[in-house]
Amino acid sequence: MARPESRHVCQACGATSARWEGRCHQCGAWGSLVETIVRPGVSARSPERASGDAARPRPLREVAPAPVGRMEIGAPEVDRVLGGGLVPGALILLGGEPGIGKSTLVLELAAGVLRSPDGRAVLYATGEESAEQVHLRAARLGLLEGRAGADVQVLATPELETILEAADAIHPGLLIVDSVQTLTCPGLDGPAGSVGQVREAAARLGAWSHARGVPVVLVGHVTKDGTLAGPRTLEHLVDVVLQLEGDRYGPLRLLRSAKNRFGSTDEVGVLEMTGEGLRGVADPARAFLGEGLRDAPGVAVAAVLEGTRPLLVEVQALVAPAGIGVPRRTVAGLDANRLALLVAVLARRCGTNLAGHDLYASLTGGADVEEPALDLPLALALVSTHLDRPVPAGIVACGEVSLLGELRPVRGLERRLREAARLGFREAIVPVTEGIPAEVEGLVVRPVRTLADALGRVLPLRDGAAPPSRTAAGSLRDA
Ligand code: TYD
Ligand code: MG
Repeated sequence: MARPESRHVCQACGATSARWEGRCHQCGAWGSLVETIVRPGVSARSPERASGDAARPRPLREVAPAPVGRMEIGAPEVDRVLGGGLVPGALILLGGEPGIGKSTLVLELAAGVLRSPDGRAVLYATGEESAEQVHLRAARLGLLEGRAGADVQVLATPELETILEAADAIHPGLLIVDSVQTLTCPGLDGPAGSVGQVREAAARLGAWSHARGVPVVLVGHVTKDGTLAGPRTLEHLVDVVLQLEGDRYGPLRLLRSAKNRFGSTDEVGVLEMTGEGLRGVADPARAFLGEGLRDAPGVAVAAVLEGTRPLLVEVQALVAPAGIGVPRRTVAGLDANRLALLVAVLARRCGTNLAGHDLYASLTGGADVEEPALDLPLALALVSTHLDRPVPAGIVACGEVSLLGELRPVRGLERRLREAARLGFREAIVPVTEGIPAEVEGLVVRPVRTLADALGRVLPLRDGAAPPSRTAAGSLRDA
């Protein structure tokens, strides 16, 4: 077969060019050219044309689903997110910031596969580290003595061809590639990590995985803004997208699935980075209690939804009298504009004037959420620290605050509430939402119409004086 050649294809209009250009000569789009393999003289359909049943249209009813035999890893938090274990022939992308623990997690996945008696050898291809470095990590994780010491085959190479040849020879039970950004494919001249390289490598690994029925885990770095470096396009190519998140200077990690063809994407795995690797957190509800300061003023728990994933996070706020000059507004993991808006709404609609104060607000555990539903918990945290009174334990909140001080419904409320209930919360302060039950799995749901109502409910004035708004007084009477 002719050596594959590459062209640069505009992702906006499809025009091709032999060289990379900053701007498409056809449609004028900037930075849209991606190096792509073309096989001259070979029609796109002919080589891998489907045959047999797959090539014949069949009535929907007659398409019997193949049974999915899952391979449990034996780490419940990870199996949970995978939807019950690894699926043969699945291409899984594990994304995360550098240093978050991806290589650690995949090595533990390998050991998990080998823990099952019929687990075949694992091929661990690394383009990032040397085989010796992988050995050192395995020693730290205490894996050298077990089956992993003998049956994890390490291959330190960035070449995709070499990896696939080795994989065909070993016929492993799991193939790990760390990371996709280091891979180089024959026929592509672009640097490793370029969109063209990454996409081609993922496509070929996916084809290999499906054909051999072997799960493949691809490690991918994400950039600070949370996108998978280079190729968002990868997300379409793979069957499962896992994300390992958290503050890498803290112990807590969240493993979430942003996409899962074989299971739900609602599952969140909570892991802890210890001296001996990642361990499942025994009681995820406790993981979010911060350092036991739940009863401290200035803390509120938010039920947020990122994409389709519910997550409970702690919002912390500190309000302190400002010195001379413009008051400080410092946020971490939150949207500064929402903070500014809340300060205005609190002043105009709730009688809480924070104008002359320095404000600090952050999310614990390294979470980074820019969802409007954080408004209500953030407001609760601000007023709680301002009044120096804690938000009662067991309360979770979510809701977008409008300029009028009303709470707007949030999407996926029930999903958030189920997660909150699962994590042991007892009461949820939420916007008035049609069709929402009064109780979700033991969690009492309290719909409130305005921010003032919510404050009256959660942080009522001690001396029994009427809260600043009429509606808030109403809700206090009901209580
Ligand atoms: P690593 O898995 O190399 O991260 P990534 O592949 O995502 O870049 O792990 C990163 C950090 O985890 C590293 O700074 C050291 C720490 N670590 C532990 O705390 N305990 C351990 O058992 C291991 C293996 C690593
Ligand atoms: Mg790594």
